[in-house]
Amino acid sequence: MLKFAKRQGTKSLKYDALGERFGRESLLPLWVADMDCCAPETVRQAIQQRVDHGIYGYSDRRLADNSKAAICSWLETRHEVQDLQLQDCRMYAGVMEALAVCIEVLCPKTEAVILNSPAYNCFYTALEASGRKILENYLAHDGKENYSIDLGLLEQQILDSPIKPRILLFCSPHNPVGKVWKERDIYELIRICQKYDLYLISDEIHSDLVYPGHKHLSILRQEFANLYDKIIMISAPSKTFNIPGLRSAYLISKNKTILQQLGKFCEQFQIGDISLSGHLALEACYSQEQSKVWLEELKQYLKQNRDLLHDYLKERFPELKHCKPEATYLYWVNCRSFLQGNPAALRKFFMDAGLALGWGELYHGNGWVRINFGCERALLEEALDKWNQAYLNLR
Ligand SMILES: Cc1ncc(COP(=O)(O)O)c(C=O)c1O
Repeated sequence: MLKFAKRQGTKSLKYDALGERFGRESLLPLWVADMDCCAPETVRQAIQQRVDHGIYGYSDRRLADNSKAAICSWLETRHEVQDLQLQDCRMYAGVMEALAVCIEVLCPKTEAVILNSPAYNCFYTALEASGRKILENYLAHDGKENYSIDLGLLEQQILDSPIKPRILLFCSPHNPVGKVWKERDIYELIRICQKYDLYLISDEIHSDLVYPGHKHLSILRQEFANLYDKIIMISAPSKTFNIPGLRSAYLISKNKTILQQLGKFCEQFQIGDISLSGHLALEACYSQEQSKVWLEELKQYLKQNRDLLHDYLKERFPELKHCKPEATYLYWVNCRSFLQGNPAALRKFFMDAGLALGWGELYHGNGWVRINFGCERALLEEALDKWNQAYLNLR
């Protein structure tokens, strides 16, 4: 059974940092991407067992091997990725850590990274801090807010860029728009990466939270991986099982040279080793049957939240444009027809309504908001009531 728990007072970023992040404590938090439900019981048990032992010393390599074996088997059974070996995987404390290492090692400081905007805000933060140039290829969206990659524009941007692009950073499924990419999209991106000699890094952290009618296609599937050898996949069980605080993520590539380069860098800085609890949690999530049952229940719950949010927005705010996310518990809403889409006015409106949302500008989507619906249904309903009330008061 999916369980929810009170998070206030646990030093949670989502709840306890509202004052610091939003300047106000008493807001309903539908912002940062973690959920309000407890992780599967299997995770608690695995960690508890070790906690009871009372010794938390260094582990030998077999602990990481267990995690890697669990990752390979998860990707094979859930995402039809074949022929993975333990040595194709490297562990990192976060997907962003893995990405930062890739940027540092594979992209010279004078070169650029291309991504599809709007994008996960930390992509911009990390790339800006690293000094790499960012080439933003904005997703196209039709009147119904269906998103697509403008491949012609992408190629043109590569050709026009005075700075050599070195990495194409692909978010699959995409945060914040919730798009699950199709075979054609992936083939085309591979073709472009081949043509312009780009590393293709696919961030698949949201790939297990895909709704019925859609199928995640991992870049590691043979039909893609066999076409090109500069492919890297980064992912984690953190979004799927709501364990981001346990810091457990991984990178996979079939390219030995890339892995050696990354390995050398990590040895130099002694990074790329994850905590005992991170390993235990990953293995519990990916290997235990009960975790898989938990995940199915979670997906049903999230789907109902998503549908509720969709229907509510359609009915009460028909002028807002949005489409149901095909994956993730994040809902990307175009508010440009509201308050002229002015970011400051939108922030004020939503905060006065009592809501802390992901402000679109963070993802380079001015006039949009990102709503995290990975919460208890009652909280989502309360948030929508607050929104509606504030809207009525405005008129
Ligand atoms: C696309 C994407 N990548 C990476 C992350 C962060 O992952 P981590 O906490 O493992 O660094 C997030 C978190 O929301 C995300 O949405």
